[in-house]
Amino acid sequence: MTLDLFEYQARDMFEAHGVPVLQGLIADTPEEAEAAAAKIGGVVVVKAQVKVGGRGKAGGVKVAKTPEEARTHAEAILGLDIKGHVVKRVMIAQGASIDQEYYFSVMLDRSNRTFLSLCSVEGGMDIEQLAVERPDALAKIAVDAVAGIDLAKAREIALAGHFPAELADKVAPVLVKLYDVFVKEDATLVEVNPLVLTHDGQILALDGKVTLDDNAEFRHERAEMERDDLDPLEAKAKAWDLNYVKLDGQVGIIGNGAGLVMSTLDVVAYAGERHGGVRPANFLDIGGGASAEVMANGLDVILGDAQVKSVFVNVFGGITACDAVANGIVGALEKLGSAATKPLVVRLDGNNVVEGRRILADFAHPLVTVAETMDEAADKAAELANR
Ligand SMILES: Nc1ncnc2c1ncn2[C@@H]1O[C@H](COP(=O)(O)OP(=O)(O)OP(=O)(O)O)[C@@H](O)[C@H]1O
Ligand SMILES: [Mg+2]
Repeated sequence: MTLDLFEYQARDMFEAHGVPVLQGLIADTPEEAEAAAAKIGGVVVVKAQVKVGGRGKAGGVKVAKTPEEARTHAEAILGLDIKGHVVKRVMIAQGASIDQEYYFSVMLDRSNRTFLSLCSVEGGMDIEQLAVERPDALAKIAVDAVAGIDLAKAREIALAGHFPAELADKVAPVLVKLYDVFVKEDATLVEVNPLVLTHDGQILALDGKVTLDDNAEFRHERAEMERDDLDPLEAKAKAWDLNYVKLDGQVGIIGNGAGLVMSTLDVVAYAGERHGGVRPANFLDIGGGASAEVMANGLDVILGDAQVKSVFVNVFGGITACDAVANGIVGALEKLGSAATKPLVVRLDGNNVVEGRRILADFAHPLVTVAETMDEAADKAAELANR
């Protein structure tokens, strides 16, 4: 699991590690925005805090010359819907006098079992476009996890990103600090766009995107960060220790084992193409010991998602055999009672499958359909979601 930070959280993290940043204060109301702008003084930028790219183009980043103007901009930006993310908070950032904008990122590159750094002297808002249209302008340099990014490596990365030599020397120490953030905070991504050169010759990180690796949570104090991050269903799932990620489709999915659940998402997405384009509504792995309680909790979370129209329970019986899982489903439906209102398609296979199916057949719940194969179940669940 990963945790994406808001820009202001990334900014604070950068500052703590000595990455040069400008002042930034958060505000949840136009009044707070005005006060923050007055406190910072001079030109400020009012920036929507949402975990989605392209804020600038969506009207979520606005320059204000006075605190009153900051208030007006905050009024416009708070409540704005940016690609489905409603702005609840803005950051008031000290204004920079920008000469040039650059791009730098370092991330975990799973497929090559290494880290990867991307860098370009041509940064700014259109980096995605640059990557597609002129890939040569965006350097991709592998970073050895043991050697990391020292000054020499940082310079190599900058030169590959077409920085002139003198400028490469100037940005290199900042790239080293950003790599520090990446390693010390156990991040899987640190991205700065733009990294800027100001008219008075400073290098500054003006926008930061950081993704943290939750597996390293025990090494950090992150409780506070998580709280404002989770969607209500995800928070509920977390409280029950369920491995749940909300997606935006209509077919709820429960399975045992992350690999099985991921392939279930694929099969449902594929089946959905035949049924009005319905898609998976979530990822939920109930793990090995699928007791009735865990199953009930999982169903409770999924049925609480208003977008869900049908649920696909896909279980491969192993140590926890199919009969135990079937009893779990029966127990869950009894426990949920009238709260269970959406059709369930169940596919059981593996250890004790015959007994598992018999238990469900005997239970004969009007909302439950038992399918033989994963494809058949996916098709049925997609069809039910499209009704
Ligand atoms: N503090 C600042 N001072 C001056 N200009 C700024 C400041 N912050 C951002 N900008 C300008 O606004 C542009 C967009 O800002 P930013 O990169 O933070 O948002 P974005 O790229 O639209 O959002 P995202 O990174 O989420 O896609 C920057 O490229 C930069 O030109
Ligand atoms: Mg940006």
